[in-house]
Amino acid sequence: MAYHRKENVIDMHRVTAYSGTTCVFRDFSLCIEAGCSTAILGPNGSGKTTLMKLLSSDIYPVAEPGSHVKIFGMDRWNVFDLRTRLGIISHDLQHDYLRGARGINVILSGIYASIDTWQNQQFSNDDLQKAGEVMDDLGIGTLKHRAFGTMSTGQQRRFLLGRALINNPDALLLDEPTTGLDLSATFHYLDQLRRMMQSGKTVMLVTHHLHEIPPEIERIVLLKEGHIVGDGNKTDMLTSESLSSLFDYPLQVVTVNGYFQVLPDKRL
Ligand SMILES: Nc1ncnc2c1ncn2[C@@H]1O[C@H](COP(=O)(O)OP(=O)(O)O)[C@@H](O)[C@H]1O
Ligand SMILES: [Mg+2]
Repeated sequence: MAYHRKENVIDMHRVTAYSGTTCVFRDFSLCIEAGCSTAILGPNGSGKTTLMKLLSSDIYPVAEPGSHVKIFGMDRWNVFDLRTRLGIISHDLQHDYLRGARGINVILSGIYASIDTWQNQQFSNDDLQKAGEVMDDLGIGTLKHRAFGTMSTGQQRRFLLGRALINNPDALLLDEPTTGLDLSATFHYLDQLRRMMQSGKTVMLVTHHLHEIPPEIERIVLLKEGHIVGDGNKTDMLTSESLSSLFDYPLQVVTVNGYFQVLPDKRL
């Protein structure tokens, strides 16, 4: 079989970007290949949310010769075209989503990349069937008539995952996916992400929580003050030394069944 170079989901090259008045990234480059699920780990203020916003076109990089932000090889996307390749699940989306939207409509809204569904939007029987399958798959089928604003945080998060999944995207980008979820909701949600990765989707997440990096994530990018300070496989990156330096606090890493956790280093 002929060798094919893997496609890049994300290709950022020599990017400068501002969040408000702060220059968060300068000469920032990062590539993530399809098939290589990746976590971008960094402390508060390191630029995680800014990175998400750049990739979801909520903010734009400074236009400079030789610099680009490409998603699946293309510079310019609108959310409507992007939705079948990359599903983006951010906290802004959860925050901004209409409280009155019914569960089923949250899922269907992914088809038009809209917030809630509108009368002029058409949905085929196939769309409705897919929405039903996605909800059943995520264990939220019984909530299809519930208003978004009356759901628990974990249920809302699953509906927003379903909103992305109805388009069957090749890749998913998530911002701190388990923030605000209790332990069972956290691990249920992570189990869903693990299934996505096992079925061939590329999952990318930005986080400062080690526990939300499931075993299937192979690559870790360490982000500090807008710079990549480490990039490699999980066991090389998630060491007590590198994390103590990343978070400027003495930490000890513990590993159980492919999951990582950190504790304060008591040896000091
Ligand atoms: N609207 C804004 N105006 C000015 N500075 C901002 C704004 N948003 C973020 N920043 C700054 O940009 C840096 C990166 O922030 P952010 O991307 O939110 O980091 P993280 O998500 O990793 O906590 C921080 O120093 C933050 O204070
Ligand atoms: Mg953030």
